[in-house]
Amino acid sequence: MFCKLWVASALCAVALSAPTITIPSGAALPAEVKALSDYFNLLATKVQAGKSMAAAPVCDLSKASLPTASPTALPPPSAGLALKHVAIGRGIQNYTCSTTNASAIPAAIGAVATLFNASCVAATNPDVFALLPGVALGMNLTSDDQTTLAPANLAISGHHYFSNLTTPLFNLDTTAMQLGVAPCAKNNSVSAPTNAIKGQANQGNGAVAWLKLTARDGTTGNLEEVYRVNTAGGNPPATCAGMPAAFEVQYAAEYWFYEKP
Ligand SMILES: *[C@@H]1O[C@H](CO)[C@@H](O)[C@H](O)[C@H]1NC(C)=O
Ligand SMILES: *[C@@H]1O[C@H](CO)[C@@H](O)[C@H](O)[C@H]1NC(C)=O
Ligand SMILES: *[C@@H]1O[C@H](CO)[C@@H](O)[C@H](O)[C@H]1NC(C)=O
Ligand SMILES: *[C@@H]1O[C@H](CO)[C@@H](O)[C@H](O)[C@H]1NC(C)=O
Ligand SMILES: *[C@@H]1O[C@H](CO)[C@@H](O)[C@H](O)[C@H]1NC(C)=O
Ligand SMILES: *[C@@H]1O[C@H](CO)[C@@H](O)[C@H](O)[C@H]1NC(C)=O
Repeated sequence: MFCKLWVASALCAVALSAPTITIPSGAALPAEVKALSDYFNLLATKVQAGKSMAAAPVCDLSKASLPTASPTALPPPSAGLALKHVAIGRGIQNYTCSTTNASAIPAAIGAVATLFNASCVAATNPDVFALLPGVALGMNLTSDDQTTLAPANLAISGHHYFSNLTTPLFNLDTTAMQLGVAPCAKNNSVSAPTNAIKGQANQGNGAVAWLKLTARDGTTGNLEEVYRVNTAGGNPPATCAGMPAAFEVQYAAEYWFYEKP
């Protein structure tokens, strides 16, 4: 039922948000613009197909499957865990640089992202879902009180930030739902596939790694493991040449949250 609505509301979002999408001028179309056009074309096909569907799809999370297409697969979720939530994260990766050594390598100092509820689309339309990080990267979030991610029309389901340099934290407690808070530690990391979207037009340094994270002490909501996959953008330049002491790189990714039922 809801997913039928999702397709319909996504279509509305097309009409509502189209004028706000600015296509940068220039000879080569940036990757995120291609992602947007792929998204709208696929959505149009889905809406067309939906018209002939006998029954509305059910948003059953057990039908969603974690992408593993990176050159090296991440280890699977631990036995006995169940998928609790799937979100699109859209935000920034923060870095620092030496301003006196052009060959120094930028240091990652954390990230800040808004999480948008994509559980239903992950379960029912994995092909549309796989395009969403690229689509999201093409949208600049103006402020934290922006409550939906156009043009997919996803609602906020949480926030991601670092509580210290080595602790990525996911807060999935919102007024709508309390899914838990998970301070995490990195368990595994693999490079993003070479065809991943490299970044916004002026930041094409590549997509951040795919990660498996495990929940630390103090986690609530039975959350156990978190995956960051299908990343778009977020990497810093290879060196600090020309970079300021602190800077931000735009990124988007899918986040998959697993709990002990
Ligand atoms: C500059 O950074 C590079 C790469 O980290 C390092 O090998 C080199 O020693 C650094 N140079 C100075 C003067 O610190
Ligand atoms: C996410 O959206 C689905 C419907 O698409 C809903 O059932 C679920 O409660 C939402 N989750 C959160 C955390 O808002
Ligand atoms: C998003 O912001 C970046 C810099 O903050 C800018 O270069 C880019 O053009 C913006 N993209 C859109 C679609 O507005
Ligand atoms: C960062 O926070 C985690 C979780 O609270 C803690 O276990 C760890 O010791 C902290 N690390 C540092 C360097 O403070
Ligand atoms: C990753 O998780 C597995 C399974 O829980 C564990 O055996 C392994 O020690 C962890 N590795 C790291 C680097 O945390
Ligand atoms: C990291 O990003 C956040 C959010 O924009 C910002 O408040 C913070 O100052 C940044 N940190 C650094 C060191 O740039």
